[in-house]
Amino acid sequence: MIPTVAKKSSNIIKINPDFPQRVHIQRAATLLRKSGLVAFPTETVYGLGADALDKAAVARIFAAKQRPNWDPLIVHVRDIAMARSLAKDFPATLAEKFWPGPLTLVVEKAAHVPDEVTAGRPNVALRMPHHPVAAMLLAEAGLPIAAPSANKFGRPSPTRAEHVLEDLGTSVDLILDAGPTLLGVESTVLDLTQSPPAILRPGGVTREQLEAAIGPVTLAPSVADEVAREGPGMSPQHYAPLARVELFEGAMDDIANQMLARAIELRNRGRHTGAIICDEMIPLLDKTTEFISSFGKWGEWDRYAKRLFAAFRVLDAQGAVVILCVLPPGEGIGLAVRDRLQRAAGSPRSERGKS
Ligand code: TXA
Ligand code: MG
Repeated sequence: MIPTVAKKSSNIIKINPDFPQRVHIQRAATLLRKSGLVAFPTETVYGLGADALDKAAVARIFAAKQRPNWDPLIVHVRDIAMARSLAKDFPATLAEKFWPGPLTLVVEKAAHVPDEVTAGRPNVALRMPHHPVAAMLLAEAGLPIAAPSANKFGRPSPTRAEHVLEDLGTSVDLILDAGPTLLGVESTVLDLTQSPPAILRPGGVTREQLEAAIGPVTLAPSVADEVAREGPGMSPQHYAPLARVELFEGAMDDIANQMLARAIELRNRGRHTGAIICDEMIPLLDKTTEFISSFGKWGEWDRYAKRLFAAFRVLDAQGAVVILCVLPPGEGIGLAVRDRLQRAAGSPRSERGKS
């Protein structure tokens, strides 16, 4: 008799990013209704989703990510009406302007939003994503979906389905693979319970865009600055590659020369060095720097945003122990890139990063 081998079905399926196949969306929605975990693309990064009102499912998110239970989750909603149902009072001005999109609004929570989701806080973070797969999944499931970025805690956020698989493997029931995400950095988290509203995390919607819509907003002190330990999501171990990150700021030519000097120094010490630079710097640096990843031309900070996390992962995989990075100015999307780079630089986490 020929033994039957149980064929392990893969937990990753390809889905069309623009015209998602309904059958895949239905499978994902069914899993969510049964306390399952589904990783799905958003326009920012991939999220690890579960039914936000199902405590057991939410607990599985924390376990899969190895996320500390003090760090609250973003709840994704299908529309403003769903947002209203989860909040005590939902001021809709910004949602009307920026949703669907990369803006997360922190508001006072409705009583039935579980403490597990908000880490015991009285506030909940809400966002309506723009990506067609996320939007269709929310509509099909008819549930609010709690979804942090689908990476292991502390690792760079996943901008491709492969990154999710790499970090979370089979602890996810299903990964919807729609290819690389559009923006590459996470949503802006804006706390509307403070006056003026405070940016807790800069992201896809810029400070300038917010201020044009509602007037002055403040930057939480830990943003793009010394990283506070206490604030939610302000963990210094966020977004970090294994390698140590060193930052270079200023005019392009000055940075290039400083990086060159540092790359030579590191090479002489036998350190495997990588760099995230712009195209114009390649001719100067490619003889001395072992691994180079370009984000595009100087000033293309949106492309930098799109590529940063993937570049961290690639340079790690190549074996870099130090990564020299251009630190962009804190304007527009540059503020978000800057924030992620500064957090990454703040936390050498492995033996590898020590040099
Ligand atoms: O773009 C994004 O926001 C992605 C996609 C998947 O939507 N999600 C994401 O989630 O980045 P996460 O969990 O990795 O980051 C959520 C951030 C954290 O900094 C968290 O502390 C903060 O939002 N946050 C969540 N709930 C909060 C709350 N009630 N009060 C203050 N901050 C909150
Ligand atoms: Mg995250």
